[in-house]
Amino acid sequence: MKILVLGSGAREHAIITALLSEEVTHEITCAPGNAGIAEDVPCVQISATDPAACAHLAAGLEVDLVVVGPEAPLVAGVADAVREQGIPVFGPDAAAAALEGSKTFAKRIMDAAGVPTGRAVRAATLLDAETALDDFGAPYVVKADGLAAGKGVIVTHDRDAAVEHASYWLAHGDVLIEEFLDGEEVSLFVLSDGHDVLPLSPAQDFKRLRNGDAGPNTGGMGAYSPLPWLAEQFGTERAFVDECLETIAIPTIRQLESEGTPFVGLLYCGLIVTAKGIRVIEFNARFGDPETQVVLPRLVTPLSDLLYAAAVGGLGVLSRPEFSSDAVITVVLASENYPDDPITGRPLGGLERASEVEGVHLAHAATTADPDQSGTLLASGGRVLSVVARGTSFGQARQRAYSALGEMWLEGGQFRTDIAQKVDESHTVITDPWAGRS
Ligand code: AMP
Ligand code: GLY
Repeated sequence: MKILVLGSGAREHAIITALLSEEVTHEITCAPGNAGIAEDVPCVQISATDPAACAHLAAGLEVDLVVVGPEAPLVAGVADAVREQGIPVFGPDAAAAALEGSKTFAKRIMDAAGVPTGRAVRAATLLDAETALDDFGAPYVVKADGLAAGKGVIVTHDRDAAVEHASYWLAHGDVLIEEFLDGEEVSLFVLSDGHDVLPLSPAQDFKRLRNGDAGPNTGGMGAYSPLPWLAEQFGTERAFVDECLETIAIPTIRQLESEGTPFVGLLYCGLIVTAKGIRVIEFNARFGDPETQVVLPRLVTPLSDLLYAAAVGGLGVLSRPEFSSDAVITVVLASENYPDDPITGRPLGGLERASEVEGVHLAHAATTADPDQSGTLLASGGRVLSVVARGTSFGQARQRAYSALGEMWLEGGQFRTDIAQKVDESHTVITDPWAGRS
């Protein structure tokens, strides 16, 4: 198949790696991509949020399928523009992508579909926000209504901090004050062709910057899959997934279909398993980053078959995707000062030796070639790359990931050393492989 992948992050690199690992050979192009993706497939320098440019590129390349990675192109209408050319596209139209782009829209769909979620109050003024905060009590949850690149949410015991966050985001639109949901988080990816759905295996993301879930929320600092504790709680992973399909994914997809805004692409269910049951904390309209980096390496079914079937309305005749039982973890390397104001342009080293560690591969995000020095890579953004490691156990996968990180360097680079520690059968506490470096 000829496939165009839009985006430039580690998620897109992971999607391309999965497509390239299939037995069937595909002709893949990425736009705009990054330095790591460019080592694997041709990259075209257009903006992935420009609907006309993306549609023009897809038509010119005569691709069979376009896969849209990030949310911004979806909300900007890239999928609509590609679909208008008659090209199959994995990714919802702008109207359905509002499920991620507008928390208010998402809440309305959830209410209409009877999907279990936390109670939320929408506030347009600081007074309304403060009243809602006091009604719910601590811990406080305040969310910006629109896309905020992972920075729109605060969860805090500090009322002043909650009010300040609300005040900041009220300058950009409404805010939502939500009931705090207590429990383990699960990211469940569900493929949808607008009517039928197929689930992937669940993953867990680490949202906070620092070890022990301290520090600010980020786009995600690491992930692992599968989740052994789900089987303990629900009997089997499948029992958990089935419950999510019945109570969350199918009602949501059918609600969108009945409103004339069918959702074609990936429904990312951000869930919390509370003592009272499974609750949705958010929907996203695309693959999660970094969860994709741990889910796709376990996928045995060819990814292209699934994405194409979703794009052309054929998921109903496929069987459930199969996954290996391998343990996969990913650790994100981020630039100094991420997430506030990352310092970029610094040299990144040791990647070759890191990729030589058994069971390890790298998914690049913000990497660019140094224009002054051939062969050197620079870190060009907040989340720089994902170190992905697989093993027969989480202990082995963790050892591999952190020994690969030990081969790398980036001045001021940040990463967590406790990714997947709670599922590590060997209970290993990793010491910072960069400790003691000058
Ligand atoms: P979101 O952008 O909605 O995914 O929120 C980012 C993170 O904030 C989530 O992954 C959770 O860790 C946390 N969070 C969001 N909403 C809630 C909630 N209602 N209760 C507890 N934690 C939440
Ligand atoms: N890792 C969280 C997200 O992709 O939204």
